[in-house]
Amino acid sequence: MLRCRSVTHRYGRRIALTGIDLTVGTEIYGLLGNNGAGKSTLMKIVGTAMLPTSGEVVFETWRRPKDDLRIRAELGYLPQIFGLPGHVTAREYLRYAAVMKGLDPRHPDASPDHALERVGLAAAADRRISAMSGGMRQRLGIAVAFLGRPRLLVLDEPTAGLDPDERVRFRHLIREAQATAAVLFSTHIVSDVERDATRVGIMHAGAIVAEGRPGELAERARGSVFEVRVDREAWRRLAPSWMRRERDPRAWPGVIASVTEGQDPEAVTVRVVSTAPPRGDATPVSPSLEDAYLLFTALLSDGRGAA
Ligand SMILES: Nc1ncnc2c1ncn2[C@@H]1O[C@H](COP(=O)(O)OP(=O)(O)OP(=O)(O)O)[C@@H](O)[C@H]1O
Ligand SMILES: [Mg+2]
Repeated sequence: MLRCRSVTHRYGRRIALTGIDLTVGTEIYGLLGNNGAGKSTLMKIVGTAMLPTSGEVVFETWRRPKDDLRIRAELGYLPQIFGLPGHVTAREYLRYAAVMKGLDPRHPDASPDHALERVGLAAAADRRISAMSGGMRQRLGIAVAFLGRPRLLVLDEPTAGLDPDERVRFRHLIREAQATAAVLFSTHIVSDVERDATRVGIMHAGAIVAEGRPGELAERARGSVFEVRVDREAWRRLAPSWMRRERDPRAWPGVIASVTEGQDPEAVTVRVVSTAPPRGDATPVSPSLEDAYLLFTALLSDGRGAA
């Protein structure tokens, strides 16, 4: 089990984490947050790449930084940005990575060929990394993180650059890993966490502002989501200013989740997340996780979190 208690981080004067409390057991925990929310900062700290300014990070009985070597022996970490040497092949690189992790490449869990199969790169085993596409390199990074069946998997934006097929493959991989590992992964794509995460944390301005099972979190937006029928002509005139105001909750207490053109030649349907019913022809609708995400990050976060 991974436990973070009151973890803060500052980069100079910039506060990136305001006091994170997080527990991840053998499950898939999805961290959802906007650009700059602090996801990578938290993952670097859990991934032993950086120390927090204050607070505790413990995996099982091992504590950072005293037991970093012990934690690293159990860890698979995929950074958001990582470099790979271009002149070696995928298989050569995985063999090197296994040895660097102290693993025996002959063991099935650490074998380069198994690792390549797991991420669908078996056919590219002998290709130089410099000749691989962006998504293939991302998958190689994932393969490295999974080497040796780690019991703590920290994956920062693992699905970035993956095509739909590869996203599905990745989902199978983490579901399989979940049986024996604490899996923490970050994304800003709601659908990445919707089906597979056992728990979701919504991160905003350096804080986890809401946490729960995906369905549970979505339910917390019930009563705050509306569909409004808006005359097309009026929408054309209003849209630019409405869109601008959606980022200023003092001016208007709602954000627009989507606008649907639909069949009606006279009107569009605007889906609004709002703490108060919008004026006009508004119908309350069932909330989605994306609605909850908008509610917690754009509406209920006033005055919270990092500067
Ligand atoms: N090395 C750094 N030096 C100074 N500030 C930094 C540094 N790295 C991150 N920050 C700042 O810390 C905050 C959190 O950044 P972080 O990279 O953790 O966000 P993130 O949630 O991972 O965002 P993204 O979705 O864009 O990856 C941001 O305000 C960012 O500008
Ligand atoms: Mg990041």
